[in-house]
Amino acid sequence: MNAHIAPESSQAGSTQVGPVLVVDGLVKDFDGRVVLNGLNFTLAPGQSTALIGANGSGKSTLLKCLIRLIEPTAGQIKMLGRDVCALNTRDLRSFRAQVGIVWQRHNLVPRLSVLSNVIHGVQARMSGPRAWFQALAPAEVRAEAMACLDRVGLSDRAGARVDSLSGGQQQRVAIARMLMQRPAFILADEPDASLDPQTGEEVMALLLSLVRENGLSLLMISHRLEHTLEFSDRILGLAQGRIALDLPTAQADAAGLRRFFDHQEPA
Ligand SMILES: Nc1ncnc2c1ncn2[C@@H]1O[C@H](COP(=O)(O)OP(=O)(O)O)[C@@H](O)[C@H]1O
Ligand SMILES: [Mg+2]
Repeated sequence: MNAHIAPESSQAGSTQVGPVLVVDGLVKDFDGRVVLNGLNFTLAPGQSTALIGANGSGKSTLLKCLIRLIEPTAGQIKMLGRDVCALNTRDLRSFRAQVGIVWQRHNLVPRLSVLSNVIHGVQARMSGPRAWFQALAPAEVRAEAMACLDRVGLSDRAGARVDSLSGGQQQRVAIARMLMQRPAFILADEPDASLDPQTGEEVMALLLSLVRENGLSLLMISHRLEHTLEFSDRILGLAQGRIALDLPTAQADAAGLRRFFDHQEPA
């Protein structure tokens, strides 16, 4: 375990008693069209869970509902001990700071340095220009950003402009920026989707190492079955708006997962 990385979140991850996430009767419809139809599931801390399902089955919608980037229609969400649906705007902001998100597209600022981009992750906890520009950031923030870059294997590129990096390196910078939030829980929506197979695998391995070595909890979506099998402890399958599959990854195989997809209605 790297003592320099996110000490608070590591504690939060490893000392969390009880589930990190309880989803109870979650419903989401868009103008009456039901996408999530009463989901129930619970996640234990310190695990990597993969969410699978056909295109359009509602995987991204579920992830966004969990932090209310999309407002659920009905149901309850308890994450990291917080009643997510009951949070007011201010509490929602502090809650979201504890949740790191890795998207397929990372929204880094291409013309700024790698280190400045990582420092931006502190804005979840701290605001103002000192959180924005590398030269103005307090020494301890810069040191923590360097530790986060080291954690993703990119400390030697701190001064480089983001747009000079490869796609895989940029995704790792986005993960370093996310670590600056000191998250306890990570949501990852196809973080490997726009990367070549080997780079995508490295990014998935990095996320799993945050679970194994830093005690974080991970809920991730990958469209690659081999990544689902290699980088998760548990697999949840979404179909017709419900959890239609829930099994330990050790009991899953590619043929079985493919059958799950094949039996789904087209979206
Ligand atoms: N903001 C939105 N407004 C209307 N419909 C949406 C919105 N977001 C997603 N949907 C619909 O919800 C369904 C699930 O989408 P999504 O969660 O993106 O699926 P997945 O991530 O599994 O591919 C799709 O039919 C999609 O068109
Ligand atoms: Mg999606």
